[in-house]
Amino acid sequence: MTLNLNFVRSQYPVFQNPETAQWAFLENAGGSYVPHQVIERLNHFFKYTKVQPFGLFDSSVAAGEAMEAAYRCLAELLNTDPDQLTLGPSTSMNFYVLAQAIRPGLKAGDEIIVTNQDHEANIGCWRRLSEFGIVIREWQIDHQTGELDIEDLKNLISSRTRLVCFNLCSNIVGTMNDVKAINEIVHNAGALAVADGVSFAPHGLADVNDLGDDLFLFRTYKTFGTHIGVMWGRRDVLAELESQSHYFNADKPLYRLNPAGPQHAQIAALAGLGEYYDALYDKHFTDSSLSRHERGVKPMKITLDWLKQHLDTDASLNEITDMLTRAVTLAEQAASDTVGPDGRASNGA
Ligand SMILES: Cc1ncc(COP(=O)(O)O)c(C=O)c1O
Repeated sequence: MTLNLNFVRSQYPVFQNPETAQWAFLENAGGSYVPHQVIERLNHFFKYTKVQPFGLFDSSVAAGEAMEAAYRCLAELLNTDPDQLTLGPSTSMNFYVLAQAIRPGLKAGDEIIVTNQDHEANIGCWRRLSEFGIVIREWQIDHQTGELDIEDLKNLISSRTRLVCFNLCSNIVGTMNDVKAINEIVHNAGALAVADGVSFAPHGLADVNDLGDDLFLFRTYKTFGTHIGVMWGRRDVLAELESQSHYFNADKPLYRLNPAGPQHAQIAALAGLGEYYDALYDKHFTDSSLSRHERGVKPMKITLDWLKQHLDTDASLNEITDMLTRAVTLAEQAASDTVGPDGRASNGA
């Protein structure tokens, strides 16, 4: 199945505008462009339901339903249930809140492993816990390749390890880390696997149960959506976390790990993601028996295959095409800057 590129383009208003249609912004930090389905839901929310949701009058009921539709849609796409999702303002904020929620369950001397291949979002919040006597160990990259060696994790992990915080795909070197192998080591040690999926998410629609992490975080603005951070957790793990919300939300699964009020319109708009994947699927495939997750995976795969095929043939791009371990990546020749003199990887976006 070949990607119908014109159809994909037609989903994005940015390509209808003569000025922006000339450009392909490949800067990962800026996030992805947004399809019309998401934009229309955002506009609709602001035009017709910009009120306190979940009330008794019509527009308030509609606002609440629009938000619930988005939770349902995200859950279907990730192959999970809405009550396992927290939708916060960003991944960094979700990690920060998560660290605070986990802290009461830790004691001095407990260990957390972070990597120096991660974004600061999944490092700094854990390092701060050293104030409470938590010992932070660093799983370090090979300074020549930027890769994490799984043997090093085996040497670092111990019966004191409570968490291993790592990325599924590095935003610096583009490596897809072997999540299942990592999770096996982490779980055999009785620890929790906390995975940053921000750079992974644009390269594969996660089936969170299949991945097997305990906590998985990513951000929808890099996957065609609004600026929302998604945090998924295993139910039994979530149950052990201390609520960080307003006291009256402490028992509400969707809100107990969000210290603020939810971003109504931005959340509601995310139901458009499912509609976008549906449109791509329906254009390219016919089997109507698939789950929403499966319907999302297929168009994403042909999109990435298309990209890979075109990168392979364009010698002007400095491409990395080993799909077994690398995300499809366009890299500028600035690799020498990615590892600083102290061995820490540069952590831009
Ligand atoms: C791999 C990775 N993790 C985390 C983040 C932080 O995401 P947020 O901007 O949602 O806090 C980024 C940001 O680009 C990232 O690339």
